[in-house]
Amino acid sequence: MAELSELSEKLSAIKSQIESDLAGITSSKGIFEYRKSVMDSKEGKIGSLMKEMGKIPKEQKAEYGKMVNEIRNWATEKFDALDAEFKAAEQKARYEAEAIDVTLPSKKLKKGYLHPNTQVRNQIVDIFGSMGFSVYEGNEIETDHYNFTALNIPQDHPSRDMQDTFYLSPEFLLRTQTSAGQVHVMESQQPPIKIISPGKVFRSDDDATHSPMFSQMEGLVVDEGITLCDLQGMLDVFVKKIFGEETRTRLRPSYFPFTEPSVEVDVSCFQCGGKGCKLCKGTGWIEVLGAGVVNKKVLEGCGIDSDKYSGLAFGIGIDRIAMLKYGINNIKLLFESDLRVLEQIDD
Ligand code: DAH
Repeated sequence: MAELSELSEKLSAIKSQIESDLAGITSSKGIFEYRKSVMDSKEGKIGSLMKEMGKIPKEQKAEYGKMVNEIRNWATEKFDALDAEFKAAEQKARYEAEAIDVTLPSKKLKKGYLHPNTQVRNQIVDIFGSMGFSVYEGNEIETDHYNFTALNIPQDHPSRDMQDTFYLSPEFLLRTQTSAGQVHVMESQQPPIKIISPGKVFRSDDDATHSPMFSQMEGLVVDEGITLCDLQGMLDVFVKKIFGEETRTRLRPSYFPFTEPSVEVDVSCFQCGGKGCKLCKGTGWIEVLGAGVVNKKVLEGCGIDSDKYSGLAFGIGIDRIAMLKYGINNIKLLFESDLRVLEQIDD
């Protein structure tokens, strides 16, 4: 039994050594390293005890194994307990160090706004889109033919005057109206046709309500049996959605070379309800767009049988609608990108 009593003493010494070593360890990392060194199967104080098994007489081997297991369990429990204690303290310290003051007011993020013109354009596209119209994108540079001649605007018509039109060459110009797109559509497509065409147009014109560049939305429907009634019905829906359910429309006779008959469309003043105010200049009505039944000459010129088909067309000034809708009295405000103006319009 000499070996076992020797071992017993050795184990007591190991225990007290471990106890005193542990007193100097202050972190979970320290415990981890220390545990590794103690339990190392070659050199560890406890880990290497099993190596001795060979020297132990046979009948004592079981007792020896039990004692080694005991000290191993004792040490493991100690290490686990200390490890848990250190980890808890370390986590607490980390949370305290990372603490944030959630009562601080947050930074205000400024949100962006779509330009009023874009907002109105999108609204118009949505309204006509819901009635089955598709969008056609025309060209900003056009020929004299598409912008004028094919729309029954003869050579000597005043709107061809150099004062109004930006000519790039005798043949090419910056389109003065999105109506030019009508001709491209009718040339390339047979009825039924139902398109809207938004885009920039250009005219040599400049005052509080006119700008050399502005935006229009063209509308064109060509099919069998299309009449002015279809136009009025469609525009009624449109103005109610844009200006409010109370809004009524009125058609006044007018003249455009490419429509016959032609009308000017007024809406009841959405500010005073029709009683008369500054916005409607006391008349109770506001002019919003030009329209009409497509002139047979235009249909024929595009290769469409005018005995079989008829069409309606309209041209809406997008800037004008935006100005009316949002109470903007100078068109220049739409081009200055002044955030004080833009931030007010989020429709
Ligand atoms: N193009 C015209 C303009 O710029 C607006 C217009 C009027 C378009 C009547 C049309 C229409 O399609 O039928 O003043």
